[in-house]
Amino acid sequence: MRTVINASGGAYPVITGHGLLKELPALAGVCRGNTKAAVFTDDNVAPLYLDTLLSALPEGTLHYVVPHGEKSKNWALAGELLEKLAGDGFCRDDTVIALGGGVVGDLAGFVASVYMRGVPYVQAPTTLLAAIDSSVGGKTAVDLKAGKNLAGRIYPPRAVVCDLDTLSTLPKAEWKCGIGEALKYAVLTGGEIFDIMEKGLDESNTERLVDLAVDYKRRIVEADENEGGIRRLLNLGHTVGHAIEAESAMGFPHGVCVAMGIKVIARASVKAGFLPKEDYLRISALLQKYGFSDCPYSLASVMEHTVHDKKIADGKLNAVVIRGIGNCDILPMTADELKGFLS
Ligand code: NAD
Ligand code: GLY
Repeated sequence: MRTVINASGGAYPVITGHGLLKELPALAGVCRGNTKAAVFTDDNVAPLYLDTLLSALPEGTLHYVVPHGEKSKNWALAGELLEKLAGDGFCRDDTVIALGGGVVGDLAGFVASVYMRGVPYVQAPTTLLAAIDSSVGGKTAVDLKAGKNLAGRIYPPRAVVCDLDTLSTLPKAEWKCGIGEALKYAVLTGGEIFDIMEKGLDESNTERLVDLAVDYKRRIVEADENEGGIRRLLNLGHTVGHAIEAESAMGFPHGVCVAMGIKVIARASVKAGFLPKEDYLRISALLQKYGFSDCPYSLASVMEHTVHDKKIADGKLNAVVIRGIGNCDILPMTADELKGFLS
């Protein structure tokens, strides 16, 4: 499937399908004329897919392999990669290719966004989470000591090429992280995504889920690329999720924290009278079906991290509350109001 996203810097395609890694250079239009590419990936993905991609690119294509995991989303490594690009003669019209999950995508996208004030990059997501969320919409970032994603830009890719075959090697735990974000879409949109998740995500419906999620995200980012309004809906479960992630010292992965965050918000929404009990029970059952547990931390410790959230504006956080399946809403709240809502 080909979904075209109209972004501020120009339209870009999100292409999903099977066996696409070999076709990536042609699909994304990289290495045309005298231009080069540099592939960024991590040390888990490299042994699995780097050769396949490199075999489709000109001989001698630059490639950089970073350690896997959230710790690679850091300023120092971004700096090292920028120095490597410069040392290797990477030019303004050359293209960065991010082959991997959300970590590689965010890091490589960030490096591409600042190298020579911005060079093109292509997202080649290899995790479920990256396929349905992080590869689309142009958010790039590295983490700072004070918090996740605190240094970053919205810098849309030139193309997203998602080879669904790569998902076959995803460890179960990483699949579960993607499910956390898929459940976010299920609650936001209801409809077919919720039905797929209720029925059970498997090989037969993964492609459909990815295409539906990409199309939903397309509608959101086309309407609000810079997250001044409805893009904030995509943060459902994230304010609490990021706090859980920080409290666990990044011990719980992102997608799992998002699912725990959705559970906390669903419970608060039903308690506040926003969410009908029947919908709450369906959401809870879904979280349980995929094995997500409750947030293990106290409200006090979660709140401690929440007040440092980068999304606070005018002393208010934009909490995403659930009014029903397929009906979420953005409510600005002070830290005290959020505390009252969650307790
Ligand atoms: P990840 O990139 O760390 O990948 C998870 C693990 O799976 C890693 O160990 C990786 O090496 C391995 N892996 C990747 N693809 C594989 C494959 N096909 N087979 C086997 N192993 C594979 O994590 P993630 O869950 O993809 O992404 C999480 C990151 O994404 C977080 O940093 C989060 O902040 C970010 N994120 C960004 C956005 C955005 O809009 N930019 C949205 C959501 C999340
Ligand atoms: N993952 C949230 C967003 O892209 O806005």
